[in-house]
Amino acid sequence: MDNVVSSKLISPNHIAIIMDGNGRWAEKQGKERIDGHYEGVVSVRSAIESCLDYGVKYLTIYAFSTENWGRPSDEVAGLMELFCKTISMEIPSLIDKKVCVKFIGDTMSLSDDVKESVKFCEDSTEGFETLTLCVALNYGARDEIINGVKQLFIKVANGEVDIENIDTKVIESELYTSAIPDPDLMIRTSGEQRISNFLLWQLAYSEFYFTDILWPDFRKEQFKEAIEEFSKRNRRYGKV
Ligand code: IPE
Ligand code: IPE
Ligand code: MG
Repeated sequence: MDNVVSSKLISPNHIAIIMDGNGRWAEKQGKERIDGHYEGVVSVRSAIESCLDYGVKYLTIYAFSTENWGRPSDEVAGLMELFCKTISMEIPSLIDKKVCVKFIGDTMSLSDDVKESVKFCEDSTEGFETLTLCVALNYGARDEIINGVKQLFIKVANGEVDIENIDTKVIESELYTSAIPDPDLMIRTSGEQRISNFLLWQLAYSEFYFTDILWPDFRKEQFKEAIEEFSKRNRRYGKV
């Protein structure tokens, strides 16, 4: 275990990250936007290692939103290629670290090669329990809720669910994240302070941490600062 870990720190069980600022990082370096995305992968690797160091059990990363299709087609194509390459390159190390990878979002609408990478990665890492890495890929929280509502309507129509019994747990069971606890801490890098259609339901009582650091610069030291800040928070969970 890394010696940066202090006994006074409270580790969140689940950290969700909006990894933002790759494009601005690249621009600052006089590079192409895609170079920023490649450098962002190094920060993902670092975040996984930090989670292992601090005993964080779930890490959810926002890799591609349903809105990101609106970006220039060459950037979208570059990102899809990056996802395929990264997934296959990282699998041995994820297996070695006993990290279980799950994808959330509309992955079925992705190209065949991305779909194959996603399935191969989930199959290769299934059952590991050290850390669950949840990758939000072609994810949109509004779509997630719409799909869940549609599924529930079908179940109500079939008589499988009684309207009177619809509660938080029933709704949660229809979300992509049904097997994953809610995030305790949500981090967004790059100075933006919005949710951008990420985990709208699940973040109801998460602590938010915003930093001006651009995602490719968010490494172990910055991760530690986020955990330190989280440790100082007085969590309420909707209680008095
Ligand atoms: C986040 O970085 C990565 C993805 C959305 C895939 P951006 O690409 O949004 O970087 P900025 O916000 O333009 O700097
Ligand atoms: C959110 O970042 C999506 C991901 C990090 C994948 P964006 O950069 O796409 O969000 P907006 O457009 O600034 O809200
Ligand atoms: Mg951005």
